[in-house]
Amino acid sequence: MTYKITLLPGDGIGPEIIGVTIQILEAVGKKCNLKFQFSEALMGGAAIDETGEPLPQETLETCRNSDAVLLAAIGGYKWDNLPRQQRPETGLLGLRSGLGLFANLRPAKIFPQLIGSSTLKPEIVEGVDIMVVRELTGGVYFGQPKGVFATETGEQRGVNTMAYSDHEIDRIAKVAFEIAQKRNKRLCSVDKANVLEVSQLWRDRVTALATSYPDIELSHLYVDNAAMQLVRAPKQFDTIVTGNLFGDILSDAAAMLTGSIGMLPSASMGEGKPAVFEPVHGSAPDIAGQDKANPLAQVLSAAMMLRYGLDEPTAADLMEQAVFQVLDQGYRTGDIMSEGMTFVGCQEMGEALLNAL
Ligand code: NAD
Ligand code: IPM
Ligand code: MN
Repeated sequence: MTYKITLLPGDGIGPEIIGVTIQILEAVGKKCNLKFQFSEALMGGAAIDETGEPLPQETLETCRNSDAVLLAAIGGYKWDNLPRQQRPETGLLGLRSGLGLFANLRPAKIFPQLIGSSTLKPEIVEGVDIMVVRELTGGVYFGQPKGVFATETGEQRGVNTMAYSDHEIDRIAKVAFEIAQKRNKRLCSVDKANVLEVSQLWRDRVTALATSYPDIELSHLYVDNAAMQLVRAPKQFDTIVTGNLFGDILSDAAAMLTGSIGMLPSASMGEGKPAVFEPVHGSAPDIAGQDKANPLAQVLSAAMMLRYGLDEPTAADLMEQAVFQVLDQGYRTGDIMSEGMTFVGCQEMGEALLNAL
């Protein structure tokens, strides 16, 4: 089988972690008789520098013509003061909405070898296995009106609008209920219904849908409490469903349950192909170009690509087993380093993975 994969290395540590990941993909491909045709496209700051825009039309077309997209990360200090339309982050939002990727799956599962790497007590994080289902093409990221407007008093007024329609809530909730059915059958919907109208609608729709999933135990939490519960007693959670902004914040918090944000992969899915597979973390400009990045979130994102995007579970298993093995062997990048382990850079972690395969 041959698959067309679009690679979007982006900025900062992006090219480093995706470089490692391509090697692992090719090695897994050899073992499983899969061929990958990689096409690299420009995205984020790298695209701005070449073309003046963060998401060139050509990049979107290349993505549309592929079986799956593997994205690293975009953004960096250099582009932070550009007008909104020319910012790397605007390109990422354009990619997600352009491909209709409304469901972002962010699994936070701790590898037993990393229990000591978390900043939380071992007994709190041991066995953590949470799936955050984040709505990705709506909410306050996309609602209108948005902008900075002049007021009558001569002041400026910055505006964003948190909005969700019935169909946007229903489709993400369905995804979450179905994922919960394949997991431990518990779904927690997170909102701010005590204050926000948009959240009350969210809660009402999710509650109404629950009647179609009698096997699922549905609960609701306000987002402030959810943030607290995530670090207090994370094992109470199985599947979480929430809006775009709350999901962004809660998934970074959930990352620390697993030891490091450098461990967290994600899948951004829509109705059809292609889906985009991307780590939860950003371009980490503070460590870019220093061979310090943990490539495992990117490698695990590629495993999610094999499993959910290409329906190649055997190859996905192999890739995840390789990650398990290098952790077992004690290899650690700086972000997950602990006493007695072998400190490695991004490249060396890649070599260890290749050896494990
Ligand atoms: P970040 O996730 O890039 O970094 C936060 C911290 O985590 C930093 O200290 C960084 O060094 C560390 N970190 C992140 N990934 C790591 C890895 N793989 N290995 C080791 N350490 C890692 O978040 P930020 O600093 O808030 O944002 C930096 C830039 O990335 C911004 O421009 C932001 O907009 C962008 N960003 C992009 C994405 C994306 O492309 N999906 C996601 C988040 C942030
Ligand atoms: C993420 C990032 C993005 C988001 C930014 C860079 C637009 O933080 O993928 O989590 O907020 O969705
Ligand atoms: Mn984020």
